[in-house]
Parts: sequence; C-alpha cells; structure tokens
Amino acid sequence: MEITLHSPLDMHLHLRDGDMMNLVAPLSSDFAGAVIMPNLVPPVTAPGAMVAYGERIDAAMGHADFTRYMTLFFTKQTEQQLLIAKDTPGFFGFKLYPAGITTNSEGGVSNLADAESTLKMMEEMDIPLLVHGESHGFVMDREAEFLSVYRTLAQKYPKLRLCMEHITTAAALELLDEYENLCATVTLQHLIITLDDVAGGALKPHLFCKPIAKRPNDRDALLQAALNGHPRLMFGSDSAPHPRCNKESCGCAAGVFTAPLALPKLAEIFTRNNAIDKLQGFISGNACRIHKLTPTAKTVTLHDTPMAVPTAYRSNGQEVVPMYAGEEISWSVKH
Ligand code: NCD
Ligand code: ZN
Repeated sequence: MEITLHSPLDMHLHLRDGDMMNLVAPLSSDFAGAVIMPNLVPPVTAPGAMVAYGERIDAAMGHADFTRYMTLFFTKQTEQQLLIAKDTPGFFGFKLYPAGITTNSEGGVSNLADAESTLKMMEEMDIPLLVHGESHGFVMDREAEFLSVYRTLAQKYPKLRLCMEHITTAAALELLDEYENLCATVTLQHLIITLDDVAGGALKPHLFCKPIAKRPNDRDALLQAALNGHPRLMFGSDSAPHPRCNKESCGCAAGVFTAPLALPKLAEIFTRNNAIDKLQGFISGNACRIHKLTPTAKTVTLHDTPMAVPTAYRSNGQEVVPMYAGEEISWSVKH
C-alpha cells in the first residue's frame, strides 16, 4: 500500500544551529517546509539574525527543496520593528514564550499586559502569533491554566491569527472550537503517549518534553481530532533535538526528537485508524489555508514497508536519540 502526500509541512520545528543543525536539518528534508523556532542561544530577535540563520539552514539542508518559515522571538516589538520584520523575506510570525517556561526562553514575556500595543499592531498587520501556552503552575496543570490567557487574547484581538502551539489537552481542543481566530499545532508524541509512557515505569528521558504528555483522555481527544480532520489543527512536530548527554542526565533537557520518523509514524497511525483521507489536511492543507502558504510543490510517497529507526543519529561529535530508537515503524518513506 502507498500514500502520496503533497507538500507536507512541519508547523513547529527546532533545527538548532552549528553541528547539531547540520546533523538534524537534512532529516527534515522529506517535508516541503517547516516553521522554524527561534529559541537559539541567544534567541533570534533581530530580522538580520533571522536572515543569517535562514541562510545557515539552507546550507545545512543541502540540495533539498525546503521552504523555511522563519519566526522571531517575541519581545514586545515596536511598530518599526514589526514593519521591518514583515518586510523581511522568509519571515512568518512571532513566537511568544512566557519567560523561563522552556528551553532557552529566559528572555520571554513576564507580563502580557505590557505587550498589548504590540499585539494590537500585529493584529492590524496580520502577523501570526505563535504561543507556548503554559503557566508556571503545577506541571500537569500548566496548559489548562494558560487557557484563560488564550481566551482573553482571542476575545481581545479577534483578527489576530493566534496559534496554540503543541497542545496536549482535551480542554485546549474545546477552546479551539470556541474561537475561529484560534488554530493549534499538535506533535506526534502527544497523539501517542501519556505521562505513563514518560514516567509510569522506568523513566524515559527521550519522551520528556514541554508541555509534558498528559492523561489518556487528553491523548485520545487529540488523536480523534487529528483523525477526524479538525480544520484548525495542524501537524507541528516540535522535534527538539538535544545532545544525548543532556537527555541521559540528572537534569534531563526537555524535547523529543521525532523529525526523521514523523511522516512514517503518521502514515501508520492514520492508516491503522482508517483515516488516511484526513492526513493531507493535517500535514499541509489546514496550514496552507489558515496561513495562506504556498510551499514548494513536493510529493512524498510513503509505503507500508517497515522503517528501522536508528538507535541514534551521529555526526561531527553530535549524537541525538530519536523517539522509537532501535524500534521498527511499519511504514517508511519511499525514496
Ligand atoms: C523545546 C526545545 O528543546 O527547544 N523543548 C520541548 O520540550 N518542546 C522547546 C519548546 O518548544 O518548548
Ligand atoms: Zn518547540
């Protein structure tokens, strides 16, 4: 059996920089494009730095035909800064992190009330706002506690394209249905795992990410929404590589590395659930419609020939362990 996907997009991707980027970027090259996260050290806040980072990504991608949608780290930009960003080739939107909420987010926003004028201008300029929606509360409640912030933003800025990044709860899906100006991304792992898979038995550092995987009913609701073709739910892998030594450590870094196996695993999930007709929308159609994207025309064919997931990807002293390391996925990309 085969499926052909048209211009698959990863709407939330961490490519890092330097040797790690050179290792992981080509592993996303079956996608036609991706929204690239700005949480480098230091974060990508200036359009000039964004352009230079984009050029480094192109070099790391080699000959792959790949459209990169660049983001800038939200820092309550001025009107002038917004205008410059909007005019910079490759710019897609701003990524807002609550200060200190995840990897390299220390320079994020600590009081959203201070950001009102920037958000109003972004609404007027039709610039998307991508949000890491977690509070600083108890880890299992962080997303739920942030939903009131999303609600306030959705009401206050009805024309702002507001994307709830990597949602993990059934409650976030309910909110998504309440406001037409909300859209959301969901990762591969949050369609599959719960907190039990991370910490219910022996601790699995390679499944630890922010937001943390939640309860079975949350996972099931997310999976059903994807399989039912929710029109404002998009695939965003949040593939977040960290060096193996930083994951298998007494202070495990948050992030699951899924880029190389995301398409095969999605094909497996959608075929197993008789929902293959919904995969194109989830992987590209919804994003193109919501964000008016025209990615490079690229087709990717997947077939039900198993993929052996490597135990690690290595190059130039870098080593990163993927989800399903050493296991088999029943689908693979046909090259
Ligand atoms: C991401 C990272 O490592 O950059 N980590 C993660 O657990 N998802 C940051 C993020 O998106 O929160
Ligand atoms: Zn992320």
